Amino acid sequence: MATKIEKLVADYDHQNFLRWLEEFPDQVEKACRLGQNINEAPAPPAGLVVGGMGGSGISGDLVASYCRNDAEIPVYTVRDYNLPAWVDSSFLFTAVSYSGNTEETLSLYQQAVERGCGLLVVSGGGQLIDRADEAGHPVIKIPSGQPPRASAPYLFIPLLYLLDKMGCCHGPSENDLGETLKHLGNIVEELAPGKEANFAFELVRKVYDKIPVIYGSAGMTGTLALRLKNQFNENAKMIALANELPELNHNEIMGWQQMAESPENYIALFLRDSGEHERIKKRFSISGEILSSSVAGIETMRSRGDSLFCRMMTLMLISDYTSYYAALLRHKDPSAIENIEALKKKL
Ligand code: F6R
Repeated sequence: MATKIEKLVADYDHQNFLRWLEEFPDQVEKACRLGQNINEAPAPPAGLVVGGMGGSGISGDLVASYCRNDAEIPVYTVRDYNLPAWVDSSFLFTAVSYSGNTEETLSLYQQAVERGCGLLVVSGGGQLIDRADEAGHPVIKIPSGQPPRASAPYLFIPLLYLLDKMGCCHGPSENDLGETLKHLGNIVEELAPGKEANFAFELVRKVYDKIPVIYGSAGMTGTLALRLKNQFNENAKMIALANELPELNHNEIMGWQQMAESPENYIALFLRDSGEHERIKKRFSISGEILSSSVAGIETMRSRGDSLFCRMMTLMLISDYTSYYAALLRHKDPSAIENIEALKKKL
């Protein structure tokens, strides 16, 4: 007999978004192989600037947070039409757009060409690849046909290997990858719709009819908090807030007084990782005490494994299941993004 969750999948996942979660481990492995196959790395630039929007733009933040304790050059994300004035020919500009047709990213790419930056394109097709091919700029071509937000591994992992090959940072090792694939495989099994007692689904039952307030800490979990907010927005069609410690202790913590007027409307999600600074651990604990009267509950999601790569990818996949199940509980098709498409058409 079908489980309650399988029935929701059958009723609302009209375009089989579930397959992107099930194939996530495979995508991670393929993305690593794409990165390993980069055979010509440029000389180390002054910095890496990643230009992109939405599910593509977050790849710049993912690279930056992966490398932040290791990279010898700055990694900076631009989500806009214009490059900052300081981006000059000493920088490597990487245009990341899954569709290859996002106008902000095309504008940045054009500016980077005009400024004589080193250039690289990560894309599944579209105008970006046409322009790069015409100009002879290197392209990391990723498989097309999936939603950009379900393609994060393809969109950022190859850049870790590129940075490694340029001598700017250590990309994932084969051991890291092995550990990661093992943990990701377990998560896919544990969180499958056929598993009635499924911790992501149980967690989401407390979340889907409230405003999730998602907190990580500066770096990896902070970036994943923003990504999870975006996944709740796009997959589950719900509003969500994201912020990171320690910064939120200096401002947003005061806004909790407004939330305390209707705590039943909010639920906190803490993204936790074994690599946290000792003071961040303490801040999570004290913040939780103060926050508890402003929210209906505080839930915790934890990364798994030893290597940073594994911890990052496991928390990403657990987050993705969470937003997917939120969509189903809200009776939404997780693949549909009507407002985004309507706006792009009207532009
Ligand atoms: C859709 C999604 C969006 C897109 C964004 C930019 O799944 O995640 O946030 O990523 O609209 O489009 P691309 O990625 O094609 O440049």
